[in-house]
Amino acid sequence: MKPFKGREFTPDEDVQDVYGPPPEDAEPVLETEVMQCVYGPPSMMNGGTEPVLRGDTSADAEVTEEFGLLLGCCRSIRERTDFKPKVALVLGSGLGDFAETSVDIECAIDYHDIKGLPFSTVQGHRGRFVFGYIGDVPVVVMQGRVHYYEGNTSAAAVRGVRLMSMLGAEVLFLTNAAGGIDPSFHAGDFMLIEDHISSFIPNPLIGRNIDQIGTRFPDMSCVYDMQLRSIIGSTAQELGIGLRHGVYVQLSGPSFETPAEIRMLRGLGGNAVGMSSVIEAIAARHAGMRVCGISCISNLASGMTDQPLSHAEVQESADKAAPKFRELVSRSIVKIGGTL
Ligand code: HPA
Repeated sequence: MKPFKGREFTPDEDVQDVYGPPPEDAEPVLETEVMQCVYGPPSMMNGGTEPVLRGDTSADAEVTEEFGLLLGCCRSIRERTDFKPKVALVLGSGLGDFAETSVDIECAIDYHDIKGLPFSTVQGHRGRFVFGYIGDVPVVVMQGRVHYYEGNTSAAAVRGVRLMSMLGAEVLFLTNAAGGIDPSFHAGDFMLIEDHISSFIPNPLIGRNIDQIGTRFPDMSCVYDMQLRSIIGSTAQELGIGLRHGVYVQLSGPSFETPAEIRMLRGLGGNAVGMSSVIEAIAARHAGMRVCGISCISNLASGMTDQPLSHAEVQESADKAAPKFRELVSRSIVKIGGTL
């Protein structure tokens, strides 16, 4: 990488921290020179392998520590593959083997091999990026997600999603297992996410804004893209899969909710509850990605049956629904790819 003022910029450092503020009489430098210092050599800036940034990439944009980390992660992937995905998919419980069954795999990279990326500690979450094709659609799949309750900050938990955007993915497809709050839901149902409630979890955008990725105050009035929702709806219909619609609420976990909490969430308009996805959707919209998501209702939420909740039950029920879930997700992605 090109040294900046004789010194190599590392992803852990902020340019301002290292060099201090620019002197008042500083000569303006070409934007491309700054880009090269910060983002790497020209080889990473063209030929389709440069980080895709949809925000402000001018020389004035601040280089935050989080952005430095992201650039480091991106470079680490680009040393191994120049694959350019269009759709990013996050696999929730029950879809753990989706990559093996439904993706023509070109390459896979363990989270452990990407410096600066937190990894997944949950049973059933494998912990790697898979690059490949679903039909003709180039995809990147997070096989195993990273949760807030594993001890990551919200910002760290969404690093993988931001990275997939920087690798070129335009659409984020979220999947998860969730507890049904809506009394008309049954275990094994699928719910198309129409909106979310994020009020119980720290927002992943807290901290200095990453201007290169997106704006300080991103709009959240339509997080879940109408066209993508309509594609998923028509795909479900073709497959004869009944689809519920509703609002997903993310709580921190890892404990399941109490019956009183579920009554509260129902009063707030929630239809399903889980421990993921919302912060990922926020980070993706911030980055300018289009977002869609499906919850597999693995159980009825706390207090709605006599049974206590367990992760094993969630996993078992999600595994049972997996064949239909796989079909719905892969067919939808083929159709979504056709519109990009
Ligand atoms: N609550 C929270 N998260 C979940 C649940 C639940 O009931 N089921 C699956 N993930």
